[in-house]
Amino acid sequence: MGKYRTAMIEVRNLSQTFVSPKGSFRALEDVNLSIPDHDFIAIIGRSGAGKSTFLRTLNGLLIPSEGSVVVGATDITQLSKRALQKYRCKVGFIFQQFNLVNRLSVLDNVLHGRLGYLPTWRGLLGLYTEHDYEVARAQLARLDLSTKENARVDSLSGGQMQRVAIARAMAQEPALILADEPAANLDPVLSEEVMRTLRGFNAEQGVTVVINIHALDLALEYAKRIIAFKRGRLVFDGRPAELSDALVDDIYERKEMLA
Ligand SMILES: Nc1ncnc2c1ncn2[C@@H]1O[C@H](COP(=O)(O)OP(=O)(O)O)[C@@H](O)[C@H]1O
Ligand SMILES: [Mg+2]
Repeated sequence: MGKYRTAMIEVRNLSQTFVSPKGSFRALEDVNLSIPDHDFIAIIGRSGAGKSTFLRTLNGLLIPSEGSVVVGATDITQLSKRALQKYRCKVGFIFQQFNLVNRLSVLDNVLHGRLGYLPTWRGLLGLYTEHDYEVARAQLARLDLSTKENARVDSLSGGQMQRVAIARAMAQEPALILADEPAANLDPVLSEEVMRTLRGFNAEQGVTVVINIHALDLALEYAKRIIAFKRGRLVFDGRPAELSDALVDDIYERKEMLA
């Protein structure tokens, strides 16, 4: 597995409180979780349950109000800004809205995944190494985008854009891929394609994948492990086969909706 070196993640007593003029809101409540190497986790739950907040704490975009996120031997909630940036180079983040630079080419966008490997001045000048180009082109080939290398991103379809975003994340040679509703803007066929691609990376490269997804059928079909949040609390953690209809009703608060 070589360059795709992963590390065990230990989330301990994690809570997140957001304070606004209207008062404070507990988005995550005492979450405890271990994510071993090479896991493929789907996080489910209603809108507002805390899925995105949780994912953001895993890559240090958000510092939790309480608790720790220990990756390997390092608590990332305690890192300096600079050390955190270094950590984030090894975390591929895939967004619902793709977050690509539309006016740039497909290849340039994927090369952005290599920026963490360059000294800042080289990155600013776009002075990538031959190796960076090799890695970027290998990912484009893998995602069947080689013929689109020079196309501007804004000329692509939604499905192609999401594949570019996945190629960029993989070009980071990440230890961990976090994906926040990566298929939410795609039709069912393309959604399956995204899930298959992520499963392939997980199976073949061993990269750990944690994905927020509201489509329960996709979560059950593709993930090795399902985690459910309900109002900021972790209410289920197990294999897809262990998730009963009664649990699903509870997670999505279906009875309360009917009452
Ligand atoms: N930066 C923020 N400031 C205040 N409230 C927030 C912020 N981010 C998220 N929230 C609130 O936290 C709750 C959980 O949000 P989120 O993690 O986005 O849920 P999900 O991804 O499961 O839909 C929501 O009620 C949301 O409004
Ligand atoms: Mg969300």
